[in-house]
Amino acid sequence: MQFAGSHILSVQQFERGDVEHIFDVADRMVPYAHRRRVTRVLDGAILGSMFFEPSTRTRVSFGSAFNLLGGEVRETTGFENSAIAKGESLYDTARVLSGYSDVIAMRHPAAGSVAEFAAASRVPVINGGDGSNEHPSQALLDLYTIRSELTARGRDIDQLRIAMVGDLRYGRTVHSLSKLLCLFGSVQVVLVSPQELRMPGEIVQEMREAGLRVVESDALEAGIANVDIVYSTRIQEERFSSLAEADLYRGRYRLNQSIYTHHCEPNTVIMHPLPRDSRDNARELDDDLNDNPNLAIFRQTDNGMLVRMALFALVLDVVDQVDRHARDVNWYTAGRF
Ligand code: CP
Repeated sequence: MQFAGSHILSVQQFERGDVEHIFDVADRMVPYAHRRRVTRVLDGAILGSMFFEPSTRTRVSFGSAFNLLGGEVRETTGFENSAIAKGESLYDTARVLSGYSDVIAMRHPAAGSVAEFAAASRVPVINGGDGSNEHPSQALLDLYTIRSELTARGRDIDQLRIAMVGDLRYGRTVHSLSKLLCLFGSVQVVLVSPQELRMPGEIVQEMREAGLRVVESDALEAGIANVDIVYSTRIQEERFSSLAEADLYRGRYRLNQSIYTHHCEPNTVIMHPLPRDSRDNARELDDDLNDNPNLAIFRQTDNGMLVRMALFALVLDVVDQVDRHARDVNWYTAGRF
């Protein structure tokens, strides 16, 4: 695809070569994300960051990624701080904000809303999550992490065996990751969820039509037994009609060190898009896994910086200028990465 000037709304806009290109550019961002070098390639550029749902990782890492490329960030969080609360349409908001920004990252609770906003925007828009629909930058960082973890174990994505566990109905990260995996060869997918929270049928069908082997199950222990990656997810309580309904499923699947030891293959990688729900009635990924070296959740979040820097460099067409605007950092940075 032509990245320069493009919106990033869905993983379905990518061919496999596009994903590999994003990963190559992400690799080139390592010295900057790891604070060995500073680049000012986006000096003068402005990111409009508009998050109408809670976010820690996506909002802050998009902002930090833009800062690390030398650009500045203007931020709106929550409808209550936006003129949308006064009845302004997404069309008008997009026309206005795209006059103030060079690129926009947006999260919104309604599926399709970011695409609607992008249609009226004069600058590229990156979808930071639209309802239960898609979260393309998360899927890219997840797949980048999967590739990295598998490479360390002498395997590649085409041989991947992955179990996705939890709320597969409302979880936009697993929706986007499943669609992205359709670009890869003989991937095996085990979908572990309560009956009521199964992966939408059209996504399962899409995976099967792409040649993936997909098994659906409601049993955690069997589902995680023969896979390279366990991808755990939170019950998306904000998508349920009541917290009481979400409580029916919260805590149904709890991966802890004991279950991992007894049921997973040695060195099975544990992933989660985060936030994990650490309240006592949830704990889908227990804190007792924190010292397990196969817990990759914070490698995922670190990789998110690389992938989001790559997306900005691509849509603003500065990939080949990044190193020309660089110098060493002035401050102490050792030991963090
Ligand atoms: N993974 C993710 O989207 O996290 P945030 O909700 O904190 O952005």
